[in-house]
Amino acid sequence: KSILLINGPNLNLLGTREPHIYGSTTLADVEVSARTQATELGVSIDTFQSNHEGAIVDRIQAARGNVDAIIINPGAYTHTSVAIRDALLGVEIPFIELHVSNVHAREPWRHHSYFSDKASGIIVGLGVYGYKVALEHVALNFKEKEK
Ligand code: DQA
Repeated sequence: KSILLINGPNLNLLGTREPHIYGSTTLADVEVSARTQATELGVSIDTFQSNHEGAIVDRIQAARGNVDAIIINPGAYTHTSVAIRDALLGVEIPFIELHVSNVHAREPWRHHSYFSDKASGIIVGLGVYGYKVALEHVALNFKEKEK
């Protein structure tokens, strides 16, 4: 089973950015833990972070036909990006939407997501632990696509 973990803009600053909201674990820590966990679960994982909308669209398009599940934290693009939404729908890869913080307890404009109505599941406000939950869930419950 092949899983792709995507983190959007500013998540490269995880651990140092507004730690009262996002905690002190870095993205590197998250990605290393995800790799270890993937090995334990017997799945393969690729990780990708970009601050650029088009780069995220390109990475999603490249996943077509070779990735079974996407875990995505679109960062601020959650609230703005029709393009990333369309890319996910275009490649027909099921995805989990993830937010480190509880977006519903924050500014009202963070309550709307361009992804939630199409996501297989949503993880919100569990901190970086959410990545662990998401990976375990897709590894155990998502089906491998016939290739
Ligand atoms: C976020 C929430 C977004 O509103 C914000 O723009 C982010 C991170 C989260 O993980 O909590 O960059 O997706």
